[in-house]
Amino acid sequence: MADSFDAIVIGGGPGGYNVAIRLGQLGLTAACIDKRGAFGGTCLNIGCIPSKALLHASERFHEAETDFAKLGIKAKVELDLPAMMAQKTKVVGELTKGVEFLFKKNKVEGIIGEAKITAAPSNGNLGKIEVKLPDGKTRSLTAKNIIIATGSDVAPLPGVTVDEKQIVSSTGALTLGAVPKKLLVVGAGVIGLELGSVWKRLGAEVTVVEFLDRVTPGIDLEVSKAFQRILTKQGFTFQLSTKVTGVEKTKTGLKVTVEPAAGGDKSVIECDVMLVAIGRIPYTANLGLAEVGVALDKRGRVITDTHFRTNVAGIYAIGDCREGPMLAHKAEEEAVACAENIAGKAGHVNYDAIPSVVYTFPEVATVGKNEEDLKAAGVKYKIGKFPFTANARAKTIAATDGFVKILADAETDKVLGCAIVGPEAGNLIAEVVLAIEFGASSEDIARTCHSHPTLTEAVRQAAMGVEGWTMQM
Ligand code: FAD
Ligand code: NAI
Repeated sequence: MADSFDAIVIGGGPGGYNVAIRLGQLGLTAACIDKRGAFGGTCLNIGCIPSKALLHASERFHEAETDFAKLGIKAKVELDLPAMMAQKTKVVGELTKGVEFLFKKNKVEGIIGEAKITAAPSNGNLGKIEVKLPDGKTRSLTAKNIIIATGSDVAPLPGVTVDEKQIVSSTGALTLGAVPKKLLVVGAGVIGLELGSVWKRLGAEVTVVEFLDRVTPGIDLEVSKAFQRILTKQGFTFQLSTKVTGVEKTKTGLKVTVEPAAGGDKSVIECDVMLVAIGRIPYTANLGLAEVGVALDKRGRVITDTHFRTNVAGIYAIGDCREGPMLAHKAEEEAVACAENIAGKAGHVNYDAIPSVVYTFPEVATVGKNEEDLKAAGVKYKIGKFPFTANARAKTIAATDGFVKILADAETDKVLGCAIVGPEAGNLIAEVVLAIEFGASSEDIARTCHSHPTLTEAVRQAAMGVEGWTMQM
């Protein structure tokens, strides 16, 4: 077992494990350290994967309960929550084991333990890392390069203590032992709406309290409004422009005090469980960053240049702990580029081609610029739109809520952005991501043959709409 490496990665999430694997592929020796007890980070253990497993299972449950009859299928449906949770746990276990397999395949040493940087690589000296192992021993390692990929943690709501039972973060909301009768979600962002959907479908009454005047801030406003209408139709209750100011535990549940964001009369919402989902914050505690002089920005993110280099030579940062969207595939893109840069290649990330998906039903997917961005930047653009009500496949699967919206440069026709609210939006966006990556025009999409009858035709028809020749409506 070597104790000196070309690169040591701190954090085994999508940023950390992918940078270590790519370094291994490029012939560098690498170790990846995670204190969690299993590799895969937030994403595999308490994020993307368990949430998507529950979203899938709860969607099937809800479909069987409410939609099968419309398709001529009579079924008696019963929820087996422990079995649903067990299936989620099995998937997580298989995928985290998969990371260990990939480490072996690419000659990466995976180490479980808490890492601290004790010296930066400098003037030909190796960087030093101390790892607190689970058995209490310490292992000292050295490396030419150190990559910080320590991810993010739940943003706290001032005055509210998360106990992960009654007052939960996303982590507790993924393991509730029973369906709450009333769930109060604080924050109408991605986590609030995804996990709110899970428990809504399983039978909870869900109220969402959001500080701003819209759901999913940052997403195209028209799409955000349509999305809120669809969720309201599904039975979600929204209290926008509202903030939570306190919570009291009672014998029967929780009394949550809310008031208008701009100030005003307080009111109380009673619920069994409250989910706090007001964002995530970079996680860089106890890493030794201040001691070795690594600079953080005002929001606590590690500052890097476009090559992921921090201000200290030989120390890099990628993923949620640096700027940019907190997404697993963004961390993965940075991981690949960072490894390639360390290996002397020209790694690069195109941030305009990083999609974002909300895995509710229907899904919401976006990439590139939205209308508000373009207006603010003074860019002249054209819009093509197509509703799923006019798409043959959407009709056959009884999923016609939503639309595709494509934005293209008014002069060059280059695709600048796309937002989709509708069935399979997360998969449909991929072709627009590719178009943006290739610098394609909306006409390129419009003149590409799409199979019939598929949902992808809605993307093509929206692209045709940019030049005003949509044919199916
Ligand atoms: P992380 O995955 O957070 O990994 C960092 C790791 O570093 C952690 O395992 C931590 O234990 C370890 N670490 C920290 N400090 C130390 C130390 N000192 N020593 C050793 N190890 C340390 N993104 C998507 O793209 N799609 C989704 O569907 C999606 N769903 C999500 C659902 C939920 C409920 C949540 C919470 C997040 C979701 N995300 C999703 C976001 C995604 O999980 C993150 O963007 C992604 O995990 C970031 O990867 P990372 O490698 O930067 O950090
Ligand atoms: P978020 O940033 O998506 O949403 C938080 C929401 O809470 C915002 O709408 C914000 O205005 C609101 N808010 C903030 N303070 C508030 C307050 N005091 N009272 C009421 N509302 C308040 O954050 P979220 O949902 O916690 O997710 C964190 C991150 O995890 C996301 O930014 C995303 O990057 C990642 N994620 C990605 C997923 C995906 O890609 N499908 C799924 C889940 C998480």
